[in-house]
Amino acid sequence: MDANIINKIEKLQKKYDTIGQDLETHLDGLLYSKPMRYWDFVQTDALLNLQVQRTTFPDEMVFLMYHQINELLFKMILWEMQQISHHKNLTASFFTSRLGRISRYFDMLATSFDVMGEGMDVEQYMKFRDTLTPASGFQSAQYRMIEICATNLINLIDIRVRETIDTNTPYNHAFENMYWQAAGKDYKTGKKSYLLNEFEDKYKDKLVRLMKEYNTINLYDKYKSLPKAIKNDINLKNAMRHFDYTVNIKWVMHHYHAACKYLLSQENTEATGGSDWQKYMLPKYQKRIFFPNLWSKKELKNWGITNLESYETL
Ligand code: HEM
Repeated sequence: MDANIINKIEKLQKKYDTIGQDLETHLDGLLYSKPMRYWDFVQTDALLNLQVQRTTFPDEMVFLMYHQINELLFKMILWEMQQISHHKNLTASFFTSRLGRISRYFDMLATSFDVMGEGMDVEQYMKFRDTLTPASGFQSAQYRMIEICATNLINLIDIRVRETIDTNTPYNHAFENMYWQAAGKDYKTGKKSYLLNEFEDKYKDKLVRLMKEYNTINLYDKYKSLPKAIKNDINLKNAMRHFDYTVNIKWVMHHYHAACKYLLSQENTEATGGSDWQKYMLPKYQKRIFFPNLWSKKELKNWGITNLESYETL
């Protein structure tokens, strides 16, 4: 018998010995099992059974599937973020390459937003959206998880109260003051909307646990803890800036323009989530910036006002 095969069998014997399993039984299992097929690996049947419309309007399918694609990409992004954050011996090249993957995924999200902006009939949208009230992308937990894994909590606190909060603030208090709470609260009474209460019932515990886990290992902290020479690596700095810009300005503006096209198509159209969305969604008001140390004073001041794309690269 080929020496390579014998070598492999010996390795298998060792593998199964260590876990108290019988090699011969496993070889029999291999003999009788069906070879892998594309649909077994990709789970196409399960995946393609998840598109359940609530109305008969064909464009509801576009809306539904594009959201599902977004959630899959969010999962891919979180997958890479976890690897950076939990890496024991982080190097500039690992950090930069994984950040590159994350940015490419977010580039896909930003540049494909025309699927929403151009891909649905306004008349159909205005009808099927009523069956989705009060649900909103605002309730995407993975989007919130990406933010928590990206930066220190202070950078996600509502800009209007940020100065009153420091690193000793209990997680619960920080959670209550995250910038996005504004979209789910009556700004006069502070009363939370049904949309926000439902979201918190389902995800608050999970998100607070994540806040604790990533308190010192989020991407920004990981970057800051690197040796100076690595931190100053121009490719790494540019990758960090690209990610920050793509998430917090580029995607946000594509999202905002799509929202305007549909929600401004009729007078007095409220967002399904019911927020003062025209103000809430703009980066110049939210000033959401993951890596503030990587931007100049001028760039910070102009966040979301001028087109940062021109000086995105150092
Ligand atoms: C025509 C399509 C869309 C419209 C009109 C729209 C509209 C809005 C509005 C008005 C908000 C503000 C909160 C509210 O009142 O609901 C919002 C938030 C949000 N939407 Fe969309 N959206 C659209 C597509 C999408 C897609 C495809 C995604 C991808 C998952 C998404 C994800 C989000 C997220 C993550 C938020 C919260 C953002 C934040 O807090 O800054 N939206 N959307």
